[in-house]
Amino acid sequence: MKVLSLLTAITGIARAIPSPFKKADTASCPYYLPEGGYEFPHLIVPINSSNVAMGHSYFADISPSNGATIYNFDIPPSRAHQQCSLYFTFPRHNQLSTSDYQWTGNNNDSESAGTLQAVQYQYATGATDSTTGNTQPALGLDAPITINSVTPGNAYKIWTGLSGAGGVMSWRLSSTDSWLHYFQDWNLCAIGLWVVYEGAAPAPVS
Ligand SMILES: *[C@@H]1O[C@H](CO)[C@@H](O)[C@H](O)[C@H]1NC(C)=O
Ligand SMILES: *[C@@H]1O[C@H](CO)[C@@H](O)[C@H](O)[C@H]1NC(C)=O
Repeated sequence: MKVLSLLTAITGIARAIPSPFKKADTASCPYYLPEGGYEFPHLIVPINSSNVAMGHSYFADISPSNGATIYNFDIPPSRAHQQCSLYFTFPRHNQLSTSDYQWTGNNNDSESAGTLQAVQYQYATGATDSTTGNTQPALGLDAPITINSVTPGNAYKIWTGLSGAGGVMSWRLSSTDSWLHYFQDWNLCAIGLWVVYEGAAPAPVS
């Protein structure tokens, strides 16, 4: 009897502790990062239109015309001058095992499509912990790129170009019509912004 109640107690505790690994449907991720062939952001810095520095974060925060997020990618010298692409991978909730997100598209609900904008800062600049919306690095020469009809369950190849001489490649993600808050995570299915070196990359799975 004592043993039984102890077991019950242990089971009760086990149930109360959420498992960090949910059972995720990773059989068809929107995109699979090529092992050894990509960069994850080494620094993620949310900003908004105030002078408040939010510092680095594991979470990206985007809201219409106010919140945006800066991502610094460190391009090693060994990858200099290589063709690469910027991807945004956005699985559905049930495809995530260790991450999650909150999304509100332009129809004001969590399933509707929305718009994201990506713009690159001048190469070898990038955010620091003290960067605010008003102290962003200078923008690069390329016009901002708009990604239309963004919906969960998809991956987007936003830009293709050269990786530069080696150093910080920095991008800002923002939106005029949608809210996004997520934990950047490579664990299947990968969610977030990535620089993928071409040649090593497998074809995206749709
Ligand atoms: C910007 O973010 C800071 C820190 O979270 C917050 O205190 C401030 O109210 C925000 N400003 C705007 C304009 O959203
Ligand atoms: C969108 O959602 C917000 C927050 O729930 C609400 O205040 C607003 O009225 C909604 N707008 C539309 C157009 O439905």
